[in-house]
Amino acid sequence: MFDLIVKGGTLPDGTVADIGITGDRITAIGRLDGAEAGEVIDATGDMISPPFVDPHFHLDATLSYGLPRINASGTLLEGIGLWGELKQIVTQEEMVARALAYCDWAASMGLLAIRSHVDTCDDSLKGVAAMLEVREKVKPYIDLQLVAFPQDGFYRDPTARANTLRALDMGVDVVGGIPHFERTMADGAASVRELCEIAAARGLRVDMHCDESDDPHSRHIETLAHETQRLGLQGRVAGSHLTSMHSMDNYYVSKLLPLMAEAGVAAIPNPLINIMLQGRHDTFPKRRGLTRVREMQAHGITVGWGQDCVRDPWYSLGTADMLDVAFMGLHVAQMSSPDEMRRCFDMVTYQNARILGLEDYGLHVGAIASLVVLDAGDPVEALRLRAARLAVVSRGRVIARTPRGDAVLDIPGRPGSVRRRHPAG
Ligand code: FE2
Repeated sequence: MFDLIVKGGTLPDGTVADIGITGDRITAIGRLDGAEAGEVIDATGDMISPPFVDPHFHLDATLSYGLPRINASGTLLEGIGLWGELKQIVTQEEMVARALAYCDWAASMGLLAIRSHVDTCDDSLKGVAAMLEVREKVKPYIDLQLVAFPQDGFYRDPTARANTLRALDMGVDVVGGIPHFERTMADGAASVRELCEIAAARGLRVDMHCDESDDPHSRHIETLAHETQRLGLQGRVAGSHLTSMHSMDNYYVSKLLPLMAEAGVAAIPNPLINIMLQGRHDTFPKRRGLTRVREMQAHGITVGWGQDCVRDPWYSLGTADMLDVAFMGLHVAQMSSPDEMRRCFDMVTYQNARILGLEDYGLHVGAIASLVVLDAGDPVEALRLRAARLAVVSRGRVIARTPRGDAVLDIPGRPGSVRRRHPAG
């Protein structure tokens, strides 16, 4: 007797199986003919995925688009300036309400684990208090991991260092940074060093906004990888964005990639935001600003697609859909072969789960019973359609359902509904 059986779905590797769930765990996978269950979801012909994971988000700023006004230049720096104004006037209650609204979007999209940076450059730390409150509220259905993020510069902002340490004392999970925003390259490198030391001393992970510019000479990822090795943090550190690697000299990158691989530093490009914000100082040809994803993967570096922003001072669009993120990523990185597209799906599920260090994630006996039923036959079709999340299961409970999205035609001689699904291959 199971609490829930998801019947006949196709797993990401093509296996067709029933999934039996007891309590909050997957307790059987295979043919479960005749088994009884409190509830059955018929997933015949549909794809079953583990939940989507976003390794890079800003939950304290989300759904604030247009406040206090729109980002006219479309640049990262104007976005930081706007956020600097907004965070003076926004209340803790408003941040909580917006973040919870976003988490509803995420849950409906099967996005059940999020790593969110939270700005620590505010003496009141109301954003940190707000996000800790949200982490607690969504705990039953979303894993929310918070990163202490000194948005205005760990050294550049006079109280950022003290406030970042206070945020960590309050229970923020991960150490962040923004070395390219410090006043000098030397200050940036020093910030990476000290922040990694703080993480090592506290036994925490590190995730820094790193080299988020088009500057071919930005070198903070090198320092981050070196400090990771020096402090024994291998496998616990991520560099977010790394857009400058797009513009770096190829010889230098040939040295850098093996260093990153040896250090076990993961990379988190954010394709929607990178393609929108980078290259704004270029005329033509205009750089794409996405880091070197395929080249990193060829070196064995873990790479996960992140979302970064939805409806905030940096980005006006977004729907909490990690398939949108992967879809943009595969276009900009030109990951168009069937294997590469499958890898893009893997990046927004298993690879991101690895970056967050999620335990018992996946579709196997003993895993936490969280999964998504997609209106698609396989990962490539899920990407092509940004497929509807027919059902979202979190820890054994069905928490969201979406109807199939077939359109109904009313064309003389062409009656019926339009089905966009198409055999794989
Ligand atoms: Fe970010």
